[in-house]
Amino acid sequence: MTPGDAHIAAPLAELRDITRSFVQAGRETRVLRGISLTLHRGDFLALVGSSGSGKSTLLHILGLLDQPDSGTYALNGRDVAGLDDEAASLVRSRFIGFVFQSFYLMPRASALENVMLPGMYTGERLSSMRERAMALLDQVGLADRVGHIPAQLSGGQQQRVSLARALFNEPDLLLADEPTGQLDAATSEDILALFQEINASGTSIVVVTHDPQTAQAARRSVRVHDGLVVADGGPAPAPACGDGDAPSATASAGLP
Ligand SMILES: Nc1ncnc2c1ncn2[C@@H]1O[C@H](COP(=O)(O)OP(=O)(O)OP(=O)(O)O)[C@@H](O)[C@H]1O
Ligand SMILES: [Mg+2]
Repeated sequence: MTPGDAHIAAPLAELRDITRSFVQAGRETRVLRGISLTLHRGDFLALVGSSGSGKSTLLHILGLLDQPDSGTYALNGRDVAGLDDEAASLVRSRFIGFVFQSFYLMPRASALENVMLPGMYTGERLSSMRERAMALLDQVGLADRVGHIPAQLSGGQQQRVSLARALFNEPDLLLADEPTGQLDAATSEDILALFQEINASGTSIVVVTHDPQTAQAARRSVRVHDGLVVADGGPAPAPACGDGDAPSATASAGLP
């Protein structure tokens, strides 16, 4: 191994003592109070916890959409805490893909154009971008919908487009915030099967979810409570009485 290969041996992502506060109406709220989390290559991790516990805030920091107030974050062995906007956006476009509950597709652009969007400023040839976008739309089962705009697609189909878009730059890490939050159970199942397929092909995934079905599809479950990690273990157990916020029984299971 040469010094240049050092990042390959490092965990995919390593957060240490991450804190983040927000000030609103003159009052400071400590949302993340010292989060430490190691993400391994190949992880499929569900971030669970009650509303307001800090899951999305943590996901935004993992995705370099936000910066912590203190703590360290190494992505592929390189320090990424404190990068300026331009540097963060470069790291994001190279290593990270996002899927959100509300899809965030361009309303006037076709499925194909939406998927190609992350490649628009990379200098890649249009024909090669088009070819990759077609292959991704095929992978998510939308080969026959490439010319449709979002309004002509169902919710599940729109989420497939946003998934294909997230994969366009071949990210190491796919981050999803309640990706099945707007979908019915059957459609969610289809989307989760795609997540599992994507994970099996080597992309690491972190998914924020309230949905037990989604948490069970993941291979590791991390529970956040009041800005701290309170449990980190195997797949979430089937819910006995809803998605409560008590530390999970899997807390002692350790890392997979
Ligand atoms: N930009 C912001 N400005 C002020 N407060 C914020 C901001 N972002 C998040 N918060 C606050 O941080 C807390 C945690 O928010 P976060 O969105 O991380 O929770 P969550 O666990 O994702 O909740 P949910 O499950 O409801 O999506 C909330 O009290 C929220 O009001
Ligand atoms: Mg949230």
